[in-house]
Amino acid sequence: MTSAISKENNRDHDRVIIFDTTLRDGEQSPGCSMNLDEKLRIAHLLDEMGVDVIEAGFPIASQGDWEAVNEIAKALKNAVICGLSRATKKDIEASATALEPAKQKRIHTFISTSPLHMKYKLQMTPEAVLESVVESVTFARGFTDDVEWSAEDGSRTEDDFLCTCVEAAIKAGATTINIPDTVGYATPDEYAGQISMLINRVPNIDKAKLSVHCHNDLGLAVANSLAGVQAGARQIECTINGIGERAGNAALEEVVMAMRTRADKMPYTNNIKTEMLTRASKTLSTTVGFNVQPNKAIVGANAFAHESGIHQDGMLKNAQTYEIMTPESVGLAKSELVLGKHSGRHALKDKIEELGYDIGDNAFQDLFKRFKDLADKKKEIFDEDIIALVDDEVGRDHDRIKFVALQVKAGSKGPQIADLTIKIDGKEQQTTAQGNGPVDAIFLAMREMVPHDEAVLQLYQVHAVTGGTDAQAEVTVRLEENGKTVSGQGADADTLVASARAYIHALNKLLLKREREKPEGGTP
Ligand code: KIV
Ligand code: ZN
Repeated sequence: MTSAISKENNRDHDRVIIFDTTLRDGEQSPGCSMNLDEKLRIAHLLDEMGVDVIEAGFPIASQGDWEAVNEIAKALKNAVICGLSRATKKDIEASATALEPAKQKRIHTFISTSPLHMKYKLQMTPEAVLESVVESVTFARGFTDDVEWSAEDGSRTEDDFLCTCVEAAIKAGATTINIPDTVGYATPDEYAGQISMLINRVPNIDKAKLSVHCHNDLGLAVANSLAGVQAGARQIECTINGIGERAGNAALEEVVMAMRTRADKMPYTNNIKTEMLTRASKTLSTTVGFNVQPNKAIVGANAFAHESGIHQDGMLKNAQTYEIMTPESVGLAKSELVLGKHSGRHALKDKIEELGYDIGDNAFQDLFKRFKDLADKKKEIFDEDIIALVDDEVGRDHDRIKFVALQVKAGSKGPQIADLTIKIDGKEQQTTAQGNGPVDAIFLAMREMVPHDEAVLQLYQVHAVTGGTDAQAEVTVRLEENGKTVSGQGADADTLVASARAYIHALNKLLLKREREKPEGGTP
């Protein structure tokens, strides 16, 4: 059976496949790990946004990764679901079993091909690597006809050997050939040259789609990806907000908007609903606790802000003077005043749906209560306030620890004391702790009730959701335990309550991680 995207692409030569690896390469980066509910939420969003291929994880890596790929494979209707595997039978079998329920599945298998990686990392000869390419692709084809093969460190691989491997992989059944710039070393002309070289030299190259996968160590990931497409590649591997190993991967929103805005230079089509880019960026950043830098292209807070008088004057006369794409085209609507203290359940439900969320009944009940509390404190409630509350509520049904109440004594005349009440597995617990400042006191209270001595607070960050002194605070907390990091978020009109909520969120993730990584877990 031929998959939907390969059929379509035989018809449309200029269609670029958007392969999102936020849940695999993105999730691999420190501090970006997500739990199952969070991964499902992001996967649904990517599917709705029109991503063609979702790399849902690395199933052999852990029981949690396998489960996430499996649940995503069960849940999604449109995208091809992909699992990553090294060039071993065990890895490929883990991907195959995890992907079993998917309507359309892809197995992605890879091995390093550069002299440096083969000698030092793999300690394998080129002949053994080549054999492994053929074996792994052949084995993967036994499970699906959609197999991607990647030459890890491809951009630093010698031309002759790369051609030999690519030809062998296609002969063994690979339908997509990916050439990663694994260490973000290539320059656009060099990378484009390598793609052209493969098109010119590999005899069976027309039997597969060429793919680009660029890391951003020199800030060139997007430029390299686009240069690769201009040279003939027709798949871009990318992530929301450009998250990923080290400096990250090519940002999906940037490659997509570059192709849309400069269609004169890059006349390629893709399936992405660009109006969902802002929401995707925001949902991911609150989920992983990575704020987007304000001047980040497309989705940064300042990406469409015009500060200088000359620019504002030009914009008033004709928006095109300083605006190459509209805020609406990336889903950045004007902040709307939406609801107030008299708004009822229906109004809130309608608003949530309009913002693109689909939340369950339990989460809605809690959300409505928090909305009413917020409306009592804050006169005007904007879209951003609702989004912050939804992000704080959705996917938390299974949390073992829940926030109940907080009283804090703070100020210059110490001591600062936090009186915190939480529920642990449904049972209410309360404690009072004294700290060096109110936030310290809250976090110490948490440590007393849920011991986690090994965990270190890596990051504590506050930002205001909207303007005004009554704005909600959105707090991010990152904890690190034995080399693993988790992030939590909390929103509230009271910064200290938001801090407690964020800490509790992070702690819930830590507990889940410990549970999932218990030795008896293991890979299926
Ligand atoms: O950067 C890389 O080389 C990768 C491969 C596993 C595709 O992520
Ligand atoms: Zn990568």
